[in-house]
This record gives sequence, C-alpha cells and structure tokens, in this order.
Amino acid sequence: MSSGFVDLHCHYLPGIDDGVRTLAEGLEVLAGLRALGYETVIATPHIRTAMFENRKPGLEAAFAELTAMSEGVPGLPQLGLAAEHYCDDVFWELFTKGQALPYPGGKAALVEFHYEVWPQRVEARFFDMQLGGVRPVLAHPERYAALFRRTDPLDPLLDGGVVALLDLMSLVGRYGRSTQRAAERMLDEGVYYAACTDCHRPSDVALVADAIARLRELVGDEETEELLDENPRRVLSGEVEL
Ligand SMILES: [Fe+2]
Repeated sequence: MSSGFVDLHCHYLPGIDDGVRTLAEGLEVLAGLRALGYETVIATPHIRTAMFENRKPGLEAAFAELTAMSEGVPGLPQLGLAAEHYCDDVFWELFTKGQALPYPGGKAALVEFHYEVWPQRVEARFFDMQLGGVRPVLAHPERYAALFRRTDPLDPLLDGGVVALLDLMSLVGRYGRSTQRAAERMLDEGVYYAACTDCHRPSDVALVADAIARLRELVGDEETEELLDENPRRVLSGEVEL
C-alpha cells in the first residue's frame, strides 16, 4: 500500500521561472499540496532557451536553499528536484552531456513541447533517451494545439514508450475549453499514465483540489489512485509497465 500522492510536476522553487516568486509562496504551495494528500512533490523548474535560462548547478543550489529553509517546518511533503525541459536542440545537448535534470533516481525525465509547433525528429530523440535508460515523460499533451481534436500525432510516441502526464488543472478549465475537452477525451482514450499539479502559485492549490474531485467523477477512485499515486511512483522507480 502506498502512503499518498506523488506530484511529478510543480514550480515551487522561488524566483527562477514563472512559478512562485518567494520562499513563503513556495512553502504555501507545498503545505497546500500536503493537505490534499501529496506525500512527495518534485520541483520541475523550466529549462527553456530565451525564456528561462536555468542550468543544473543553479537549480541544484536553489533547491538546496529551499530544502534548508524548509527544515523543521511541519506539514510539508517529501521534496525532490528535476526539471521541465523544453524540447529543442539545447535540451538534447544538455541531455547528451549529462547536464539535464531527470527525476530523482534518473529513470525518467520531464519534457514539454511548444504549444503550437510539433517538434521535428522527436521520435528518434526520445528513442535515444530510452537507449540511455531514461524514459521521456511528456508534460500536458492536452495543451498542444496539434492534439486538441485528435490524439493521432501522439500515437507514435506512446507506442515508443513515452509516458503522458495530465495537468490536473486542465480538467477545470485553467487553460481554456480546447484543452479541457482534449483532456477529457484523452482520459477516455486511456492516454495518460499519470497526473500532476503543475502548480505555479498558491492559488493553484484550490484548483488542483477541484480537479482531483473532477477526476474522481470522470474515471472513478481506482483509476484516480493509479494516476496520482501508484503510477507516478513507478515513473520514479523505473518500473513503468505499458
Ligand atoms: Fe510546468
């Protein structure tokens, strides 16, 4: 039996991307998620050229600082560090040189696409990642324009072992109607392996609570536990079964 939800995607490191701005906000997000039942929350700050020029050493330092400041604060989940890598040539170079930030344990890494432009040669590159023992975890497929109406463009990636990660807040309209409809369709189709919060600010926590309630309505308690708890743990341990 497990002991709580695991969040594979959250922006609680302060002042380094479009996530929380202060330590207090970061701790507020973490305490809020703990209260919702999250036992572990992985920080996934953006690494995205020309927007968020973060690199592994700076992110590790920011994470160490937050960890030190949160010591002794009651009611927080377990913490971990990874990154949300924007899928471009810079990412592949960082990945090849061992300068990307996979999930703790190194079995998987979070990747996001441009919202409107499907990336070139991504199947071959995701294949190469897996040859290196790292499973690609695709952030919020329901938010990509190419997938609003149909899932086909994603099929080759899913067949190739990529894990699709639902943004919970997509279910309650946080990103608009097209994304909400796409998320419901993909849930129906069984596209998602796991679900995450993608929290950027304290006010997102209440939306996540609504979204979890909506998820239970849509897929039932058993699948909700799989998406929030059992399967995220498998992503971290490298025991994904597709
Ligand atoms: Fe994100």
